[in-house]
Amino acid sequence: MFERLQTRPADAILALAQMYRADPRSTKIDLGVGVYKDANGHTPVMRAVKSAEHKLWETQDTKVYTSLAGDPAFSDAMIALVLGDAVARDSVASVATPGGTGAVRQAFELIRMAQPGARFFVSDPTWPNHISILNYLEMNVERYRYFSEETRGVDFDGMLADLKTARAGDVVLLHGCCHNPTGANLNLTEWQAVIDVLLETGAVPMIDIAYQGFGDGLEEDAAATRLVAASVPECIIAASCSKNFGIYRERTGILMAISHNTEARKLHQDTLAFLNRQNYSFPPDHGARLVTMILTDDELRADWKAELEAVRTSMLDLRQQLADELQRLSGSDRFGFLAQHRGMFSRLGTTPDKVETMREKNGIYMIGDSRMNIAGLNAETVPVLAKAIVDAGV
Ligand SMILES: Cc1ncc(COP(=O)(O)O)c(C=O)c1O
Repeated sequence: MFERLQTRPADAILALAQMYRADPRSTKIDLGVGVYKDANGHTPVMRAVKSAEHKLWETQDTKVYTSLAGDPAFSDAMIALVLGDAVARDSVASVATPGGTGAVRQAFELIRMAQPGARFFVSDPTWPNHISILNYLEMNVERYRYFSEETRGVDFDGMLADLKTARAGDVVLLHGCCHNPTGANLNLTEWQAVIDVLLETGAVPMIDIAYQGFGDGLEEDAAATRLVAASVPECIIAASCSKNFGIYRERTGILMAISHNTEARKLHQDTLAFLNRQNYSFPPDHGARLVTMILTDDELRADWKAELEAVRTSMLDLRQQLADELQRLSGSDRFGFLAQHRGMFSRLGTTPDKVETMREKNGIYMIGDSRMNIAGLNAETVPVLAKAIVDAGV
């Protein structure tokens, strides 16, 4: 029965985490896996999440199934959080999903059902799971230029030129904010130019937004997603609550399909519920319920926003400290991009052998493509990393 199964290559990030754990050096620095960590290297449960859990424990009197789409109150709260008033509520079909990954997977399946020959245009690079799930589903993948190794910003001309080769029936996958793995993002003028290309080509945008509140602020980070949703006839959005609510293991996410055609909305809603039914029936509820409680209660919401803001600004401070220290040690401004990048990650833009040197010599663990999790740093480790980067000749 199982003879044809093959061993799969280990996930690069999880393999790195394993190597980190096995390293006996007390000075080692973990910049690998993408979870937020405080200055002590701990990933705390957010205060508002604890309060909501406490309240839920006291008040929840049944754990009977929700609906296939999840609790409608969760959809309402999340659609408002991500989209504000950019589109009419009745243009959005949505389902709760197991995390952002579940939303991404269901989105790909939705598109496969609707348009089996669709090509997915993904940024080069993108979150590796995008490509791996697309390959698994045997969908066509096209890469568009995104990261400039030279400036460590977005290769915007290259990106636009590549997106112009998309056509109706294709999907352009975009990161709503805080691009993973590079940290390089478009400004709103550039987003508008991308929208113009989408309108010209007829390709449908799919936005993956997994870090709302980690970049420039909750509203600011949603601005591009809102602009796109309001400007194009159809759009898919996959949002994750893992990072901004710190509820990674609760598997909380949402998939939205927006169509400015109410007939289509009903079809989308039925199809999304059908897809949930085929894959896992009812989506997980615990995390979604906590998110709903937090977003609909003034006090919990204010507390959550304050803590999220502290998380965001702590990462910005670390970025600035690292850029300053590198400026001091190297005598050049070439690392200024680290303070410009947004979100949890920055791609340093160096070769795998230099990444390996830093790991072997200095116990610094970053992904082979030189993605660093900025939240893995603190005031003591910033100078250690900066010195290792300069010593490695980056
Ligand atoms: C770009 C991107 N999309 C989606 C996700 C999904 O996260 P989760 O499934 O943990 O909610 C992540 C998490 O790392 C991500 O970086």
